Amino acid sequence: MKFTIDWNDGAVVLVDQTRLPHEHVVLRLETVDSLVEAIQRLRVRGAPALGVAGALGVALAAKQFEGERERARAVQLLRTARPTAVNLARGAQRAAALLPSFDAVLAEALRIRDEEIASSGRMARRGADLVQKLCGDSPRLLTHCNTGGLATVVDGTALAVVFELHRRGRLGGVVASETRPLLQGARLTTWELRRAGVPHRLAVDSAGPFLMARGEIDAVILGADRICANGDVVNKIGSYAHALGARAAGIPFICVAPESTVDLGTARGADVEIEDRGAAEVAGSTAPEGTDAVNPAFDVTPAELVTAVVTDARTFSGRADGPDGLAVG
Ligand code: MRU
Repeated sequence: MKFTIDWNDGAVVLVDQTRLPHEHVVLRLETVDSLVEAIQRLRVRGAPALGVAGALGVALAAKQFEGERERARAVQLLRTARPTAVNLARGAQRAAALLPSFDAVLAEALRIRDEEIASSGRMARRGADLVQKLCGDSPRLLTHCNTGGLATVVDGTALAVVFELHRRGRLGGVVASETRPLLQGARLTTWELRRAGVPHRLAVDSAGPFLMARGEIDAVILGADRICANGDVVNKIGSYAHALGARAAGIPFICVAPESTVDLGTARGADVEIEDRGAAEVAGSTAPEGTDAVNPAFDVTPAELVTAVVTDARTFSGRADGPDGLAVG
């Protein structure tokens, strides 16, 4: 399969990310309910990939349901399957605007897929230029969660920058942080780095700030699920701790995300609904039975801790709705 998620002969096809790194399983989903389950279980995940999933889901709805009410209900299920990444609702909404025409909806969904593919290449080049400018020619990077082709369609956001630096022969090293509790870093980022032949090491999440303090990391580079109008970055839980570590160590904290993740309609991070995924993922089988847990899947890094946001169109620091703050190159 060429892409992480695509449309094939009347169905959404996607790599089941819950099975990686041990098994590479491609799912063929023909109903809206099965796609919603895949989104909620994180079989497909990562903000740009969720945008494509939401839009392709509307194509499934157009095919599956005849009635306007059933279709509207399906669109609502898709839009709200997960609340934090703006891409999901946005992708579903864009495609739904073309209902009831199945052909028009599918064409729009594939356009969103192609836009994300093009965005990845632009972010990779722009981000690599910025990292070289800020950190010199052999940067040692720390990344969090998974921002590669699995989280987008191909290549990725922050991880695409890592791949690009490696292609240029300009990568000093990369540390992937595990990303408790679902281990997107340990399971998925290491899998992608290994496939791309990029030397890397894995660290527990809490090691990040200490490695920075010890002078072993030159920059933190990660993605976003939503970038608010004031420049606050909402991303995988643990990002904020890395941002505090980066600030204390005096190193750049760089966020790489497509414009499709910038949400000027949300004023600040505190306004974003942060998904809480329940106690079981955290307490699991390790804590005494019945232990309650709090499990926010994302956190908010305030704009003042973010050195730069790199998108497919611009590089800025500070507000996302203001003039570009940081010139590159
Ligand atoms: O819960 P997930 O795995 O969907 O969270 C994903 C992230 O937080 C990613 O870092 C973010 O979506 C950027 S993906 C290019």
